[in-house]
Amino acid sequence: MPKVLISDKMDPKAAEIFRARGVEVDEIIGLSKEELAEIIGKYDGLAVRSSTKLTPKILESATNLKVVGRAGIGVDNIDIPAASAKGVVVMNTPFGNSITTAEHAIAMMFALARQLPEADASTQAGKWEKSKFMGVELTHKTLGLIGAGNIGSIVADRAHGLKMKVIAYDPFLTEERAVELGIEKVTLDELFERSDFLTLHTPLTDQTRGIVSREALAKTKKGVRIINCARGGLIDEEALKDALESGHVAGAALDVFAEEPAKENALFGTPGLISTPHLGASTSEAQVNVAIQVAEQMADFLLDGGVTNA
Ligand code: MLT
Repeated sequence: MPKVLISDKMDPKAAEIFRARGVEVDEIIGLSKEELAEIIGKYDGLAVRSSTKLTPKILESATNLKVVGRAGIGVDNIDIPAASAKGVVVMNTPFGNSITTAEHAIAMMFALARQLPEADASTQAGKWEKSKFMGVELTHKTLGLIGAGNIGSIVADRAHGLKMKVIAYDPFLTEERAVELGIEKVTLDELFERSDFLTLHTPLTDQTRGIVSREALAKTKKGVRIINCARGGLIDEEALKDALESGHVAGAALDVFAEEPAKENALFGTPGLISTPHLGASTSEAQVNVAIQVAEQMADFLLDGGVTNA
């Protein structure tokens, strides 16, 4: 019977499915790197969210490991080249939390448009600063997407419901798909120049790292509002801080940071900044979805060799 370790907090559905499918499962959360390296040799599969970091060193001890399943989208916590070199298959669940993450981006957009966190703090402090919190409407504004894949396309759909004009920069988006999604496909420069709201929905790769750079920010409309529920390294945080302080960028809502957990960050306290602690996928529905998907996919692979989302 194959044996799987769940090493991050995951919905109980994952363990239930493994057991029901005939896969032995241990759930041990909060292991140190050394502890994980010590026990990983016993397992055929490892199921993680984002806390476990699968480094080359740990993989050295993973003598029986055949598959790593990431209950979520980003696989930044797994050293893919080192895993592939050992013949370990890495799978993610690209669809389970897409709606939830898209909804968080939309929530962030509303929060920016009406300065909800600041207005809440001020009201609860007894200030009643009605004239301080003048907002902007979303209707007829241009929303620029960097990335129109699983999550970006859902954001576009919801934005259409809000009567926004949606444009996107995405080298993988075909003209046909753009038409189907009601999105105008534009160049990156055009996206920066035209967006009233700019939202990122792309993985962090060598091509996308720092895509919202100082130069890019200089091309944006004065008063642009930026949302990032994708990955921290996509935005030059120092340049964003300067742009918020100068007032060129009217607001930024960040769920993700270059360094996480972001217990300290130079952006904290900057006027116009709204932040959440990487909550993009944090709904009960999404966590059930990704737990089910990762367990089904890993069980398929371990029992029958079936490969999905690798
Ligand atoms: C993902 O990659 O699935 C999201 O960023 C959420 C998470 O880290 O679990």
